[in-house]
Amino acid sequence: MITAGFYNDLKSLSEILLLAEHQHRSPRRSPEPLVAAPSGLRAAKRRPRPAAAPRALSPPCGCCCRAMALQGPGQLIFYVNGRKIVEKNADPEQMLLSYLRKRLRLTGTKYGCGEGGCGACTVMISTYEPTLKKIRHYSANACLLPICSLYGVAVTTVEGVGSTKTRIHPVQERLAKCHGSQCGFCTPGMVMSIYTLLRNHTEPSSEQMVAALAGNLCRCTGYRPILDACKTFCKEPVCCQRKGNGKCCLDQEDYLFDEEEKVSTRLFSTDEFQPLDPTQELIFPPELMRMAENQPKRTLTFHGERMTWISPGSLDELLDLKAAHPKAPLVIGNTSVGPEMKSGSVFHPIVIAPARIPDLHVVKSTDDGLTLGAACSLSLVKDALANAISEFPEEKTKVFCAVLQQLRTLGGEQIRNVASLGGNIMSRKSTSDLNPILAASNCMLNLASRGRKRQIPLSDIFADGVGNNTITPEEILVSVHIPHSRKGEHVSAFRQAPRRENALSIINAGMRVLFEEGTDIIKDLSIFYGGAVSATVCAKQTCQTLIRRHWNEQMLDEACRLVLKELAFPGSDSGEKVDYKKTLMVSFFYRFFLEVLQSLKTKDSGHCPGIPTEYRSVLQDFKTKMPQSIQIFQDTEPSQSPQDPVGRPIMHLSGIKHATGEAVYVDDLPSVDGELFLAVVTSSRAHAKIISIDTSEAVKEPGVFDIITAYDVPATNEFYYSDDPEIIFAKNKVICVGQIVCAVVADSNVHAKQAAVKVKIEYEVLEPVILTIEEAIEHNSFFEPKRKLEQGNVDQAFETVENVIEGEICIGGQEHFYLETQSVLAVPRGEDKEMDVYVSTQHPAIIQEMVAASLGVPSNRIMCHVKRVGGAFGGKLLKAGLLASVAAVAANKTSRAVRLILSREDDMLITGGRHPFVCKYKVGFMSDGRIRAVDAKYYINGGCTPDESVLVGELSLLKMDNAYKIPNLRCWAYACKTNLPSNTAFRGFGFPQSALVTETWITEIADKTGLPPEKIREINMYKENEQTHFKQQLDPQNLIRCWNECMEKSAYYTRKTAVNEFNKQNYWKKRGIAIVPMKFPFGLGMRYLSQAAALVHIYTDGSVLLTHGGIEMGQGIHTKMIQVASRELNIPMSHIHFCETSTTTVPNACASAGSAGTDVNGMAVKDACQTLLKRLQPIISKNPKGTWNDWIKEAFEQSVSLSATGYFRGYNENMDWEKGEGQPFTYFLYGAACSEVEINCLTGDHKTLRTDIVMDIGCSINPAVDIGQIEGAFVQGIGLYTMEELKYSADGALYTRGPDQYKIPAVCDIPEQFSVSLLSSSENPYAIYASKGIGEAGFFLGCSVFFALRDAITGVRSERGLKKTFALNSPLTAEQIRAGCTDDFTEMVIERCGGRICLNISG
Ligand SMILES: Cc1cc2nc3c(=O)[nH]c(=O)nc-3n(C[C@H](O)[C@H](O)[C@H](O)COP(=O)(O)OP(=O)(O)OC[C@H]3O[C@@H](n4cnc5c(N)ncnc54)[C@H](O)[C@@H]3O)c2cc1C
Ligand code: FES
Ligand code: FES
Repeated sequence: MITAGFYNDLKSLSEILLLAEHQHRSPRRSPEPLVAAPSGLRAAKRRPRPAAAPRALSPPCGCCCRAMALQGPGQLIFYVNGRKIVEKNADPEQMLLSYLRKRLRLTGTKYGCGEGGCGACTVMISTYEPTLKKIRHYSANACLLPICSLYGVAVTTVEGVGSTKTRIHPVQERLAKCHGSQCGFCTPGMVMSIYTLLRNHTEPSSEQMVAALAGNLCRCTGYRPILDACKTFCKEPVCCQRKGNGKCCLDQEDYLFDEEEKVSTRLFSTDEFQPLDPTQELIFPPELMRMAENQPKRTLTFHGERMTWISPGSLDELLDLKAAHPKAPLVIGNTSVGPEMKSGSVFHPIVIAPARIPDLHVVKSTDDGLTLGAACSLSLVKDALANAISEFPEEKTKVFCAVLQQLRTLGGEQIRNVASLGGNIMSRKSTSDLNPILAASNCMLNLASRGRKRQIPLSDIFADGVGNNTITPEEILVSVHIPHSRKGEHVSAFRQAPRRENALSIINAGMRVLFEEGTDIIKDLSIFYGGAVSATVCAKQTCQTLIRRHWNEQMLDEACRLVLKELAFPGSDSGEKVDYKKTLMVSFFYRFFLEVLQSLKTKDSGHCPGIPTEYRSVLQDFKTKMPQSIQIFQDTEPSQSPQDPVGRPIMHLSGIKHATGEAVYVDDLPSVDGELFLAVVTSSRAHAKIISIDTSEAVKEPGVFDIITAYDVPATNEFYYSDDPEIIFAKNKVICVGQIVCAVVADSNVHAKQAAVKVKIEYEVLEPVILTIEEAIEHNSFFEPKRKLEQGNVDQAFETVENVIEGEICIGGQEHFYLETQSVLAVPRGEDKEMDVYVSTQHPAIIQEMVAASLGVPSNRIMCHVKRVGGAFGGKLLKAGLLASVAAVAANKTSRAVRLILSREDDMLITGGRHPFVCKYKVGFMSDGRIRAVDAKYYINGGCTPDESVLVGELSLLKMDNAYKIPNLRCWAYACKTNLPSNTAFRGFGFPQSALVTETWITEIADKTGLPPEKIREINMYKENEQTHFKQQLDPQNLIRCWNECMEKSAYYTRKTAVNEFNKQNYWKKRGIAIVPMKFPFGLGMRYLSQAAALVHIYTDGSVLLTHGGIEMGQGIHTKMIQVASRELNIPMSHIHFCETSTTTVPNACASAGSAGTDVNGMAVKDACQTLLKRLQPIISKNPKGTWNDWIKEAFEQSVSLSATGYFRGYNENMDWEKGEGQPFTYFLYGAACSEVEINCLTGDHKTLRTDIVMDIGCSINPAVDIGQIEGAFVQGIGLYTMEELKYSADGALYTRGPDQYKIPAVCDIPEQFSVSLLSSSENPYAIYASKGIGEAGFFLGCSVFFALRDAITGVRSERGLKKTFALNSPLTAEQIRAGCTDDFTEMVIERCGGRICLNISG
């Protein structure tokens, strides 16, 4: 809790910023220190219960107590944004992120995951190195930085970079103006990564820029606009966008721009950008320099509530400490210890922080190699290796090159900047990318303990598996010696991860071979693997057996078999496919084999034949390049008034606030007096009776205020929106792992969480436990109603068709992964049972309704407020309502404000996501490719409560036709009721799954008929005057236009020929290309669901306050609404302000969902503005030359009301499920996308080379926002279809609960060339200003990458004479791609390869 004293300090926070700014001008003046108040974490004065007995601090010991006696209690001194912080009570458990946010109230730095995986919390750390007299700036994740590690450093947060109150930094300005922020939650982290790079390199290369962002995730933008902003700082010329001749750099052909089209490609203008001026940056605090230079290195000790932090100043002290506390870990980067402690799997009462000891930072080049201190950060190691590589002859640097290769993709830059070499080695994680290569290269460890020093080979620490005790607990690693490579030695390292960058390896390897001089006879061989089992392993016997063998095919064959035999897997771990891992192990060896062979040829071309040319490309790994991109949209008419913003690429109006960290999200709201924090306790069983809930231990925990259960809900605990309820707290039984059973409220988030784990729940398991769709079918477990659509005569059609295919496709679920986790602040007003509820939601009205019902009060007592939401994508509807009710019940019971911010793990565990699908289908078609009949059953895994599952099923059926006329069709949708967390709405709402199924048939028909897939698509595409399968009339003209334009802009046929040519010339790498059309129906099915209202006030100074029922969650709705109001009122946008969406201003607003926000709220805003204008008209007519302010003043004086509501009744949509017909949609959006990919057949890795999208979105109100929606959705679609994988345990517990296990697309995953064109001359008579709702449609086009991958796999398979038809499920991960590219290695793994590997390596 923040104390009142601290609030007084808060006042000075703005001063901090001002002072920071002032420092730019007068660098010598140091501001007064901010002496932080005693930790609120300790203040238990509000606890109603008797205080628990004080916890014993860490056990007394000789050394640290001696240090304490000598120095008194530790004072932590560091700087934040130029301001000195003196923390007298530094808690070793406190990370910088919570310190910044809660203690310093610097809320620009965001929480996204708390485990170093998302980059939302990025800050810049600056240190001074007195020996080198150099200041080092590096980015770091504040969520993993213990504040105690910050002694003597300067921290810069986004607030210190620039602010609207002082000066906006060019990074902030350009990110905003290039449209690089949507919801804005990732934006401060992006700013900090770019800013840090610019502090080190004022003109970075695009390679450096892309690398700097590898550790930052964005779920909204698809990264393209962020990278566009970055490019403006790079030394290479900015991506041309247009050549001198007005043509696009992506396309050499003339056909890109139609002479007639008045198109634009400029979403922003670089002319407005301020130059980057390095002299304007915050200087490094001189006091810290003096401290670093003059202060003797004393031991620093900090005692927290449960933990003691000791930072010794010398190696001897460190060794003494380690002898006294052998179990205490050495913490340097905290990237291994931190996440372990956070997960609760371990707790360390004492930690030793040796980072200040010079011996551990040594970088020494010796005659035989490089010695690097154990505390060197991985970034420093990278630099040292790169230097050494440039200095030494190639022959000596092979080990360095291999280690460097691994370091390039190990973690993100924030991780590498703090993670230490020693930490990576000594934490001995099986996923360490360094250990296999360091071990294979004969690296040595220099160890020390009190009175003893020794050197051992690094490989010794893995000699006998996990329990290895080669290093004693008292010993520490001082440094690592990396040797020079020798003549005739070859060294390589490999890794394959679920995502190319910032992802732990599935398998990695380090390999080294030394030949007898001048021969290809193996003298020494070393092979180490990581990721295979729980520790790094050596294929020792394999290596020994192969000594003295020639480096040839026979050796290769034997090596692969020996490796597989020697490193037999004990079984599958957490769902990882063992076969894939094994395949990678032998594939890596094969890659090493080829590399060495090629290198032998270079040295001795006479004797060694080398490898065939078509094998060579596999020796090159995919690299992330700065993408080239172009966006094409229709210009506004020259006659349009310059003040009229409609149709122009206006920046998101919160863009600058996102980039400065000033945009306020729920958890950024200042704490309310007496506020409590809530942590949920969730079920650990999928289906069980609750026998008892024991809270006795939990209530004894410090700071605990109360425990809230179902019995505390005053009224409704179960909401019946259909037959089965949505439940706030489980009462008698639990129906999934992750269901909320009760909640702890305490005086801090930390205390609440600590107590929550102490709640003990006893269960009695109930049968059946249904987890999968198959199990639901078996138990006939469905939510009602089941839906069916039928047209034509399916059975008869099947009798007449020439071909039939039958199959099944599975599509995995998807986690929303909005960057801002679910957040609520419930504040009782203290009278009349009123309560303010601040929620991150898409649907304030349902929050109000659910909270009111749970508390048993009328809705008019509940005020729900939403300023903005940090991403939602459908995940913040009903689920947010349940969580808001949890917080409101707690607030009601305690009469205190209650804050509930879900941790990323809890959010992923509890809230469900996109429905997994299984479709069983039968398709009848003619040999010319015409589809005549389809019979399909769609099963969706709804989870344990209905939520929107039936509706998702319905829309899956209504949208399953995608762009095709299917004359005879019968399809069913079943929403399966299972014991998984309840799934919910997600962008596209069933369409991305059901249309993927349809496109899968198309490709299968192509396989079967031998016709190209694009021909099958064209043959079956809707023609004029046809009806959909529910008898809605359709005009597909723009569908066909999009298709043709996409064909043309992508140069599809030319590139298809080039792909075939590439595939002929490359054996282990293949390319694939696919073009996919899309019809996306817009509509919510019922009129009342699309009604909307707005409220517009004009104040007497002429300023306008606008509100409506829509929620800003990144889609720029408020920006667009202000554009609408600006046009209608004919005033500049700057006159209009949007404050918040609230149930107090607009009642009963429908959810912002289904792409409808702008359509419906735009109509309401227009209506309100027109009402006002009508009232003003007589005044304007009387004084036509008057100004807006004149008219308003006059209107007020004439008692004309200056406030109006606007209303839109909604679209006349309907659907009769009995008859199977209706008009559920108002209009259709169309599009097409063409993607080209390249795959590595040995690993399954892939790269999207190019994507061209053409979309019909009517007349865009804001092309920048709309293109942003298309690109962001497209990249999210790539995530669903190619990489995002949810994994569950056999008893229904979600494993993938954070960015470390669940991979969403990162910068490395977007197309290298990315073009988006908006179809010109398209008008939509049904929506505001002829626009179309665009939030969801682009998502499905991500499947063009899926089908391009399929095309590449088809290329592999046809070359190898494999079966033509093959099934591919979604996501098409590297694992599936590898499995699709069957070869001798995959066969060997499943033990079908009887003969020897025949790889024709001799050409
Ligand atoms: C988001 C994220 C992504 C990551 N991605 C990758 C990846 O792609 N590849 C990869 O290989 N790793 C990856 N890692 C792991 C990371 O590289 C290691 O956690 C890191 O190198 C450990 O260093 P540290 O200084 O942070 O260790 P700490 O957490 O500070 O300490 C780790 C352990 O090592 C011991 N230790 C440290 N130094 C010494 C010493 N000198 N003597 C004795 N014992 C010592 C400590 O006692 C402790 O038990 C990732 C981590 C995160 C959080
Ligand atoms: S919050 Fe720190 S990296 Fe995600
Ligand atoms: S703008 Fe990046 S996560 Fe929303």
